[in-house]
Amino acid sequence: MEQSLIPQSLAGKKILLGISGGIAAYKCADLTRRLIERGAQVQVVMTPAAKEFITPLTMQAVSGRPVSDSLLDPAAEASMGHIELAKWADLILLAPATSDLIARMRAGMGNDLLTTLILASDAPIAVAPAMNQQMYANAATQENLSVLTQRGMMIWGPAAGQQACGDVGYGRMLEPMELVAHSEDFFGPKPLQGISLAITAGPTREAIDPVRYISNHSSGKMGFAIAEAAANLGATVTLISGPVSLNTPSNVQRINVESAQQMHQVAMQQAINNQIFISCAAVADYRPSQVADQKIKKTDDSDQMQIVMVKNPDIVASVAALQEQRPFTVGFAAETQDVEKYARGKLAKKNLDMICANDVSVAGLGFNSNDNALHLYWQDGEQALETASKQQLAKQLLDIVALQYQQYSK
Ligand code: C5P
Repeated sequence: MEQSLIPQSLAGKKILLGISGGIAAYKCADLTRRLIERGAQVQVVMTPAAKEFITPLTMQAVSGRPVSDSLLDPAAEASMGHIELAKWADLILLAPATSDLIARMRAGMGNDLLTTLILASDAPIAVAPAMNQQMYANAATQENLSVLTQRGMMIWGPAAGQQACGDVGYGRMLEPMELVAHSEDFFGPKPLQGISLAITAGPTREAIDPVRYISNHSSGKMGFAIAEAAANLGATVTLISGPVSLNTPSNVQRINVESAQQMHQVAMQQAINNQIFISCAAVADYRPSQVADQKIKKTDDSDQMQIVMVKNPDIVASVAALQEQRPFTVGFAAETQDVEKYARGKLAKKNLDMICANDVSVAGLGFNSNDNALHLYWQDGEQALETASKQQLAKQLLDIVALQYQQYSK
């Protein structure tokens, strides 16, 4: 792609990229290029360990600036001294941020140039953790990260997946383009500033007995992506989540529930206190009419067993039916055919303000996948959102929700 076609979304922004010593440091050359091609100025600062993973020469070549790596370098201090550097940045992006860097930041240490700059700067700080999954899960790391969050730092990632050491789990640094997207959101307009938003996500579990339940394959990824994007766009976000194995996005308040009835109860409390309500959860339509007190035993006298099911409350319809303090209400519709007809039918029947339809018959999209495509319908309009990552779609969806909400609240 030619440089001129790339949107200059970071034009003039001064980003101090702090690199610490993790294997993900090799991605920093690409990250720097992507930031610069969007108009940012990038000043690289490396810890001594980072230089074992990627050379200062590489980082100097891609950033077009000498790399700063020493607190006690008279030549560097004579050009842009460390206090000047700390004042220069519009954003300090720490990527990769190792568990060691995070621990030193939490302790307020200034034992190298990077941590000294962090202490000396009042610029916003974004931390992109990158480490082995066990190190990330360690209580010390989790506590350190939560202290950094309380101090107002943004935590971007980590992602889950295959790690360089062979482990699988949370701890991978976000990909360069994901960090670019976070930076764009950070500097971009905040159409949901000052707006409160509640969202349901994930499946529900309907108990049969103390050890068994009926559920579905919803991963919660779409709802979590919307919660994260909404917080990035300025909203105060409450995420009502069924059982999923996903990290809570930063700056999002999470309430965990299991069953549809619990989700209904929490959603109704939240709905009247939020301006926007998005129902992304795959709520079980029915639940067993009775939950056995004890584990149900296999019997020899029959090859069949029957479970009588009763209807669950329709959560989004109950929210949309509120007579007072009714939020702008958005639902989802997973369809396999006649998408528009069924989606518009649900929009009307449930009295929603908007519905996001996805065609779940398309392989690789929707349930349990990382990508999705949506078609949004509202009473007098519609908008197709082409196939993209759930993160990108979430942002596009919320830009439209923000516009429609403005009209609704007039
Ligand atoms: O009717 P259907 O289940 O297809 O509608 C989907 C929409 O309704 C989604 O927004 C889903 O979160 C919501 N829903 C709900 N409570 C239910 C069933 C669905 O909020 N019991």
